[in-house]
Amino acid sequence: MLRRLHPDQPDSFAFTPDNLAWAEAQISKYPAGREASAIIPLLWRAQEQEGWLTKPAIEHVCDMLGLAHIRGLEVATFYFMFQLQPVGNVAHIQVCGTTSCMICGAEDLIGVCKELIAAEPHQLSADGKFSWEEVECLGSCSNAPMAQIGKDYYEDLTAEHLAGIIDRLSAGEVPLPGPQNGRYASEPFGGLTSLKDYEPDKLPVNASVDLAVRLGDTIKRIDGTEAPLLAPWGDAGGRASRNETEGA
Ligand code: FES
Repeated sequence: MLRRLHPDQPDSFAFTPDNLAWAEAQISKYPAGREASAIIPLLWRAQEQEGWLTKPAIEHVCDMLGLAHIRGLEVATFYFMFQLQPVGNVAHIQVCGTTSCMICGAEDLIGVCKELIAAEPHQLSADGKFSWEEVECLGSCSNAPMAQIGKDYYEDLTAEHLAGIIDRLSAGEVPLPGPQNGRYASEPFGGLTSLKDYEPDKLPVNASVDLAVRLGDTIKRIDGTEAPLLAPWGDAGGRASRNETEGA
């Protein structure tokens, strides 16, 4: 698929102060002269902040890393994880269309997206709340068909489930991710047939869903306040601290 930058671009991009500190901490993980290695996390963070990856954001990240803009454009247009056009301001729905999901009903899910969101992938819904696309296998084949919405997986879906999820998201709710057909995880629908020793102690929902509920960031965009700076070698994760360490 040909991936191009969107024709309508904002004038500028800047990281929020928290995201900037996070980005500088990521850069400081790499040796001097190898700052380019931080390009994917920085582009991803820019996308998380804005919802999609704009040309000014790509250029801004390149400038931070000392790269020619074309290098950032090469990365951004190669990886499908980067959204090169605006996405819904509530959620972007990624429906898996690969083998297991296709066999189990992905086309019905895509039909729901076409009906409730927009006729074509990467188009915004009329109210601007949603967008959708078909993606390759998301690694949840035992819970097919499924869709990723924001940061979480909604699994064992039917067309009715997905329509209901879109309705609830539209109303400002965040439906519980995970299996939508009553399964706990990916065990047989009738329940476990082996490995039952831990059954009495299990959480009400599986660990992935439990984490999603505790973090509460299923469809929330990252503004930098929720992620700790993982750069213990620097006082604020800054590059100066890294260079001092290298020079020591
Ligand atoms: S085929 Fe859909 S998650 Fe693997």
